[in-house]
Amino acid sequence: MVQSERAPLPIVVLLSGSGSNLQAIIDAAQAGLPVDIRAVISNKAEAYGLERARQAGIPTQVLSHKDYADRDSYDAALAALIDGCQAQLVVLAGFMRILSDGFVRRYEGRMLNIHPSLLPRHRGLDTHARALAAGDDEHGATVHFVSPELDAGPIIIQARVPVQAGDTPQALAARVLREEHRIYPQAIRWFAEGRLTLEQGRALLDGQPITP
Ligand code: GRF
Repeated sequence: MVQSERAPLPIVVLLSGSGSNLQAIIDAAQAGLPVDIRAVISNKAEAYGLERARQAGIPTQVLSHKDYADRDSYDAALAALIDGCQAQLVVLAGFMRILSDGFVRRYEGRMLNIHPSLLPRHRGLDTHARALAAGDDEHGATVHFVSPELDAGPIIIQARVPVQAGDTPQALAARVLREEHRIYPQAIRWFAEGRLTLEQGRALLDGQPITP
């Protein structure tokens, strides 16, 4: 099937904060990225990303952990929302929650995350400050398939930026974020076009293993 005949891929975006990556995906979709953003879901009612979604006419949902007894019941409610949208891809865009193994397995091969470092360096939080403290001369961002181990799933695409003399974590973060806004829509495009798959724990593009 040629791309123009393919229906847009139904996706959901999960976020907790500003949603600048969501905005990049919205902008890309308006410019032809073949996705249909069915919903934006946040664990934080005050996340600015929800406002971005509303402005783009995308349905929003807030799911607060305070309404659930434990992680499994929260994740079950989250999965029900996602599946209710018939989403074929789950896009984590600054969703600041640890996901249960069961949830991750349910969406194995169809859930992406973006992390602000050159994985496997600097998993976890405060990556920009840690890159500076480590004296790294380059830094960046990584899009990867989500696997049960945090920030350790198969890598799809990375963007590198130089660390410059006098950088603050904020300046470095801004430089990285500009690259995030480029590589996340790119990875989503590959997936939507059926070119990107996860097979036996490896990310493949056009059937070939991706070697970052
Ligand atoms: C980004 O730095 C992303 O790499 C990380 O969370 C941040 C989200 O930023 N996972 P935004 O909400 O998309 O602006």
